[in-house]
Amino acid sequence: MSLLDIRSLQRSEIETYIREAIKYRNACTSGEPVPQVSGTVCLLFFETSTRTRASFESAARKLGLHGSFVAPATSSIQKGESIRDTVVTLDYAGVDCLVIRHPSPGAPHQAAEVFDGGVVNAGDGCHEHPTQALADLLTIISRKGTVEGLTVAIVGDIVHSRVARSNAWCLTKMGARVRFVGPRTLLPKDCSLLPVETCDNLAAGLSDADVVMALRLQRERMNGYDLGGLAEYTQRFQINRESLKLAKEDVLVMHPGPINRGVELDDFAADSTFSAIHNQVENGIYVRMAVLANEFDKLRGDA
Ligand code: NCD
Repeated sequence: MSLLDIRSLQRSEIETYIREAIKYRNACTSGEPVPQVSGTVCLLFFETSTRTRASFESAARKLGLHGSFVAPATSSIQKGESIRDTVVTLDYAGVDCLVIRHPSPGAPHQAAEVFDGGVVNAGDGCHEHPTQALADLLTIISRKGTVEGLTVAIVGDIVHSRVARSNAWCLTKMGARVRFVGPRTLLPKDCSLLPVETCDNLAAGLSDADVVMALRLQRERMNGYDLGGLAEYTQRFQINRESLKLAKEDVLVMHPGPINRGVELDDFAADSTFSAIHNQVENGIYVRMAVLANEFDKLRGDA
């Protein structure tokens, strides 16, 4: 039970999520009835969110689940209740599945220790964001036909990115080659624990890339990090009409959002036919349907 990270998943489990997500996408886009699931899901979000929240809510609605949203500002967390007590309270309040986003790495794992139902990690600090990686994988497979053998350059603020870490595990388990590209100060200090190559030069980083995934500079997590000048960063690492020429001709441009236009991406990279950014958002709904349905199958003992 629970989807806490990609690192501990088997390739076959990732494949099952993708297969199920494609079934949901086919049903939703052809107007076929979607098999309904009964139960209650709660989104417990300690950090801001637009697309992850909206797509989990959409996924829950399409599956027929009852959903609720809890955030610190409007809950008893504001009154000093601990995360542990909050999670136990939600369990007794009849929540079957908890989707949690938290600034501390490992918070969803802690929640899973005290929560009886399923727990889904919707992003924990700089650690992992498993459903984003599944959405990105489905997007690459849908646009490129396969992910096996592709070179994926993930560019930007890697050190603070849970999306980069989940994608590194997910894409390499599925047979891709992953390259982290960015200034030294924004690359993790020890990448030897991750299945990636690293590069602090954009031209080398983008050479032969089939997919370029740009990341936002996460200034909210940058205490003590020296970013240097923003103008210099943009000049050296922006993905734009010019720098895309360094990658393969049919390169796919991705970004988990939110975008800081004019910094990590220019309008051409974000909006041209190379871009798969809207596909990532839409596929996020279908992988989250697959993930939630799987949690409920396991709860009911069907999986
Ligand atoms: C990202 C996140 O929250 O990790 N966004 C997302 O969930 N789609 C990336 C970011 O905040 O830059």
